[in-house]
Amino acid sequence: MATWLITGGAGFIGSHLAERLVARGDNVRVIDDLSSGKPENLPAAAELTIGDAADLDLVERSMAGADGCFHLAAIASVQRSTEDWLATHRANLTATITVFEAARRARPDRPPPVVYASSAAVYGDNPALPLAETATPSPLTAYGADKLGSEQHARVGWLVHRVPSTGFRFFNVYGPRQDPKSPYSGVIAIFAGRVAAGQPISINGDGLQTRDFVYVGDVVDHLIAAMDRPAPDARVFNVCTGRATTIRRLAEVVAGIAGASPTITHGPARAGDIRESLGNPAAATAALGVVAATPIEEGLTATLRAVAGSAG
Ligand SMILES: NC(=O)c1ccc[n+]([C@@H]2O[C@H](COP(=O)([O-])OP(=O)(O)OC[C@H]3O[C@@H](n4cnc5c(N)ncnc54)[C@H](O)[C@@H]3O)[C@@H](O)[C@H]2O)c1
Repeated sequence: MATWLITGGAGFIGSHLAERLVARGDNVRVIDDLSSGKPENLPAAAELTIGDAADLDLVERSMAGADGCFHLAAIASVQRSTEDWLATHRANLTATITVFEAARRARPDRPPPVVYASSAAVYGDNPALPLAETATPSPLTAYGADKLGSEQHARVGWLVHRVPSTGFRFFNVYGPRQDPKSPYSGVIAIFAGRVAAGQPISINGDGLQTRDFVYVGDVVDHLIAAMDRPAPDARVFNVCTGRATTIRRLAEVVAGIAGASPTITHGPARAGDIRESLGNPAAATAALGVVAATPIEEGLTATLRAVAGSAG
C-alpha cells in the first residue's frame, strides 16, 4: 500500500487530492498549519499533523517511509505576499526547499519524488498567449517570485541531490470547498453566494477580462499522474484548459445553472488586475497523458451544489 505525504493537505486542492488517494486505498499523511485549511476538509483516514512545512524536523519525520510528497502548502495570496513579504517567503519558498531537503535525507541513495505547486503567476503579465512553459518567466509579485524560486530550487534538487520532481503552474483552479477570498477563483464562490441570495452580481471593470479556469478534479488528475509516472528530472508543466472564459460569461453561466436572472452591475476595474490569462496545456498532456477536460458548466454545477450545501 503506497504512503504519501501531502503538505497543505487540509486546503482546497490538497483535500481533494487526499480524498482521491484515500479512495484508492493509499495511506495519506498531511502536514498543515491550518492557516487557511480546515481539518474537516480531510477524509477521516488521512493522518493530520498540525505544523509548519518549513520545519525540517517535522517534514523529515513525516517523509520517513513515504513513497513521495505532494507539496501544496503555501500562502496562496498575492495580496498577503505584498503586505507580509518575509512571512509569505517562509511559507512559499523556504517550505519548498525544506521538502526537497527532507526528501534527500529520507533516502539519500534514491530520494522519493516531489510533486509541487507552482503557479501561472510566474509568467507575470506576458502578452504571448496562450502561455507555454517556454515563455520567459517574469513574476510581478513576491508570490510569483517565490513560486519561480521553488522551480529553480527543484532544478537544483535534481541536479545536485537527485530529488526527482514535477512542478505544476496552476492557472485559476475552481471547485467545491474553495475559499471565496481566493484571488484565483474566489469570484465563483462570490457570484454563487450572491445569486443564491437573490442579490445583484457586481463585476470589477467591463467583465471582458479572461481567465483559464481549471476544475479541481482535473488538477488532482495531473498531480496523481505526475506521481505515478515520476521522471528522472525536474519537470515543470502548466495545468490549464487552453480555453479563455470572460468574467461576464462566468457570471452568466453561474446565473444560468442557478436558474436565476440576477442584475449584473459593473464597478471600477481592480488595480493591477491582469487583463488576459490563458495557458497552453499541450506539454502536460504529451508527458503525462492528462487533459483538463471538465467543461466549465459541469465544474460550476458541482461547485454551486457545494456552495448551496454548505449554506443550507
Ligand atoms: N487555487 C489556485 O487557483 C492556485 C493557483 C496557482 C497556484 N496554487 C497553489 O496551489 C497550492 C494549493 O492552493 P489552494 O488553492 O489549495 O490554497 P489553500 O490556501 O486552500 O491551501 C494551502 C494550504 O497550505 C496550508 N499552509 C499554508 N502555509 C503553511 C505552512 N507554512 N505549513 C503548513 N501548511 C501551510 C494552509 O493552511 C492550506 O491548508 C498552493 O501552493 C498555491 O500557491 C493555487
